[in-house]
Amino acid sequence: MISKDTIEQIIYYARIDEVVGDFVPLKKRGSNMWGCCPFHNEKTPSFSVSPSKGIYKCFGCGKAGNSINFVMEVDKKTYPEALRYLAKKYNIHIEEKEVTPEELAAQGEKESLRIINTFANKYFQNNLWETDEGKSIGLSYFRERGFRDDIIRKFELGFSFEDRKALTKAAIEAGYNPTYLVKTGLSILPERHANETNITEAHIFDRFAGRVMFPIRGVSGDVVGFGGRILGNNKETAKYLNSPQSEIYDKSKILYGLYESKKSIQQEEFCFMVEGYTDVIALHQAGIENVVASSGTSLTVDQIKLVQRFTNNITILYDGDSAGQKAADRGVGLVLEEGMNVRVLLFPDNDDPDSYAKKVSADELKSFIKNNSHDFITYSASRISEEEKKDPIKKTGFIRHVIEIISLIPDSISRSVYIKECSRIVDVDEQILTLEVNKIRFDKETRKQKDKNRQQNSGQKPNQNSGQSSNQNPNQNPAYYAPHPDEPFPDEALFAPESLEAIETEQRQMRLDVYDVIEKNICRLLLKFGHYLLDVEIYNQEGELMTMQISVAEFILVELFHDELTFVSPVNQLLLDEYVHELREDRIPQENYFIMHPNPAISQMAVQLAEDAYQLSENWLNKYGVHIETEIHNVKKTVEHALYVYKDKRLMDMIQELKETLKDPENDDEMFMTLSEIRKYESFKARVNKLLGRTIVK
Ligand code: CTP
Ligand code: MN
Repeated sequence: MISKDTIEQIIYYARIDEVVGDFVPLKKRGSNMWGCCPFHNEKTPSFSVSPSKGIYKCFGCGKAGNSINFVMEVDKKTYPEALRYLAKKYNIHIEEKEVTPEELAAQGEKESLRIINTFANKYFQNNLWETDEGKSIGLSYFRERGFRDDIIRKFELGFSFEDRKALTKAAIEAGYNPTYLVKTGLSILPERHANETNITEAHIFDRFAGRVMFPIRGVSGDVVGFGGRILGNNKETAKYLNSPQSEIYDKSKILYGLYESKKSIQQEEFCFMVEGYTDVIALHQAGIENVVASSGTSLTVDQIKLVQRFTNNITILYDGDSAGQKAADRGVGLVLEEGMNVRVLLFPDNDDPDSYAKKVSADELKSFIKNNSHDFITYSASRISEEEKKDPIKKTGFIRHVIEIISLIPDSISRSVYIKECSRIVDVDEQILTLEVNKIRFDKETRKQKDKNRQQNSGQKPNQNSGQSSNQNPNQNPAYYAPHPDEPFPDEALFAPESLEAIETEQRQMRLDVYDVIEKNICRLLLKFGHYLLDVEIYNQEGELMTMQISVAEFILVELFHDELTFVSPVNQLLLDEYVHELREDRIPQENYFIMHPNPAISQMAVQLAEDAYQLSENWLNKYGVHIETEIHNVKKTVEHALYVYKDKRLMDMIQELKETLKDPENDDEMFMTLSEIRKYESFKARVNKLLGRTIVK
């Protein structure tokens, strides 16, 4: 457990621009910093960071949060993991207690898996460097392959003993839960024990026994899995075994070497993509550090996006065999579609970067790579043979292939540059190529549109973020105000009585969402205007009407408590409780208090709520400034309105519930009781409605 003091320290020191800056290059513009959003694909920066508020917000995909949320989101970390990461970054000491198995179990599965992997990683390295078996088998294997000791240490390579129980035993003795050992894939539970409820050491054994180990890390350095290689070249056994898919390891979303290479990738402004663990290591050893491996899987979009966080330029290095070539072609299409610039380099027959690196000096390797990598598209076009040039049918086929490649490029300017180049290479009129490329793109676009319509018609939630063009200002789209469940800040228009009628007819599921929206609006007003003073008229003990000043916070809370209302949505209630707690201590907490709150549920929500105003000031003020003005000048009306809407909705539901019981009353007494209650609520509701009706909705 991390103490509250430590959390507060971390929150204090972790500057949002620095934290984000480790992952996204940021440029200052105005009072904010801007960069390309790491959570969705974009070419023009719509991801903004506000150092003064301590929050980030993407105007493209809508993601927002504080520095801890950012780390959680970008690295798929849990809350404690994110805190540990930030503590490490800012050299803040965390008192880590020795973990007992019980505590471990409570820490959540993901973290447990990571902790076990960290243990195993240390264990394997210790085997390699400190034991006779490790030194004579594992270390000598790496050295024979030509890996230097400093490189072996840098990549934290290790060794797993021949003894099939070695790691399993050591881990269980150190207090780790056998179930989690199996979940990390470090240990194997054989089929015959699959139904065992209490898994013990007796049931399981090591997956990687007798192999040299390559830890696989996430972007921030956590060990998420392992690759284990057999020693030598026994064709009978799989050369590499890898950790299976788990809570923390998804091989389609991991690039081997990214953690070690990301700095160099940013500096060099491009990234080499290779196939294998050893290729990454060999290139590092030769001084080429901007390299990652897809680890034998064919490249995925997620992997490409990982690279794209650091650079837009990628050079794919592939084995000289035809399998390598095919793999290259497959991957390249995806990379082009992401709008990246692609170069390719094929190694001579039967060589991969690692084996080639062994044959030549580091300098020779560097110059080979420099002189033999080609821009993929012009290179593809230039591969037209003399024969193809002469035979019209073959030529058409070849050109079709090139056109299809070009049509993958999302950016129209790049496309036209390539069309120009290729028209020269294959000797075909530029306009014809343009026409064909546009046709392919048009067909694809129509198909996509049709799919989308079909999806929408079949009632699926349309993907709000698919249209990238309007990203810069999603607020211009009036549909932004529709009470979409993902959209926590509806415009006041949503609260107009007529739309409440519509809400009434919605499904039960929808009800929760509506409450959430209405309650969030009240929370928002609390955070934004809680400290404002309002003039209210009340009757004193003598029955005289008098004017009094109270804060918006008191006004809202009194109104809610008077009617004994608690929020339907637990997180909203959490924020409310926290607010009341602070108020009892004589503090009126403001936005920032909640944004920086150690409870991630509260901070995340506060960011969402703040985002609203933040957005307004960022790019809305000039256009719609009036709206803010209205709210600020009519705080009382705005607050009253929000409360009445809430009460109206609650009353409506209570009446509805009572009416349900009327359908099947126990006896006459109960029926009359219920009826009188309904009448009571209905008269309340009429009053609220009257108040609502008087409230001018813009
Ligand atoms: N791979 C795998 N399982 C296998 C073979 C390969 O997971 N049975 C993955 C590994 O990540 C490996 C990559 O595919 O690094 C490339 O495979 P290959 O070229 O065969 O291996 P090398 O990296 O060249 O390994 P080595 O040099 O050790 O033979
Ligand atoms: Mn190899």
